[in-house]
Amino acid sequence: MDHYVVFGNPIAHSKSPLIHTLFAEQTGQQMLYATQLAPLGDFAQCAQAFFQRGLGANVTVPFKEDAFRLCNELTPRAQRAGAVNMLSALPGGRLHGDNTDGVGLVRDLTVNAGVALKGKRILLLGAGGAVRGVLEPLLAEGPASLVIANRTVEKAESLARLFADLGPVAASGFDWLEESVDIIINATSASLAGDVPPIASSLIAPGVTVCYDMMYGREPTPFCRWAEAHGAALCLDGFGMLVEQAAVAFTHWRGVQPDTAPVLAALRAQLVLG
Ligand code: ATR
Repeated sequence: MDHYVVFGNPIAHSKSPLIHTLFAEQTGQQMLYATQLAPLGDFAQCAQAFFQRGLGANVTVPFKEDAFRLCNELTPRAQRAGAVNMLSALPGGRLHGDNTDGVGLVRDLTVNAGVALKGKRILLLGAGGAVRGVLEPLLAEGPASLVIANRTVEKAESLARLFADLGPVAASGFDWLEESVDIIINATSASLAGDVPPIASSLIAPGVTVCYDMMYGREPTPFCRWAEAHGAALCLDGFGMLVEQAAVAFTHWRGVQPDTAPVLAALRAQLVLG
């Protein structure tokens, strides 16, 4: 049987095995997909042991940079991101790395939610690994502007410099921004502490601005509650992005594209009710 895993620490609550198992059932693929806890500081050895037999792996927090360093071959978007969330076995024990987070986000926004990004003013909150992973695919959609706002402004500035050749990207502090934008994407980890990044509510044009939180949970996230309270046209959480990035990996590994809509609906019901 073909083996796949998702590496992380912690990893027990990962939804990836369920997502890939549903994709496999839907497309008639014979494969096993499990979680694999990697010890902190020992990712390389753990991954190498898995790839003695395994065909592919997803990689989540905190190993995406370790996975990047392990690859013999990288896609341009993974190279740019400096982080890999998907590893595939190549002949001769070599490893191919990709970063499918950004495509997952873009597909969730454009295909699932029908929100076009071309010509839009996008505000991206945060400047950590999550932002690095999505900048290239977001800029590839041709927004009118993309502002990276972060608590530590220097980090936003260095990311803006790094991606400047790919489109109209700029950096900002949270409190420098007032004028409304079309799309606000929260890629900070503030939700983990129940916080919302301190941005002005005037950034939301009521009934127009679309908000997206890369986090998700059983309940609406603090950022989604904030967005709704200030009249956002729509606020989506990151569950669709998770399923879409998995679909990109599944398609690469198995050569068949799963239909994400029924999987998203089934898992969303389980997330809310389960
Ligand atoms: P990830 O891989 O999820 O991006 P990270 O690299 O640790 O994680 O980055 C976390 C991001 O969330 C950073 O942009 C961080 O801001 P700083 O660079 O100033 O540290 C941001 N962040 C975390 N907690 C926050 C909070 N309470 N308010 C605003 N931003 C927060």
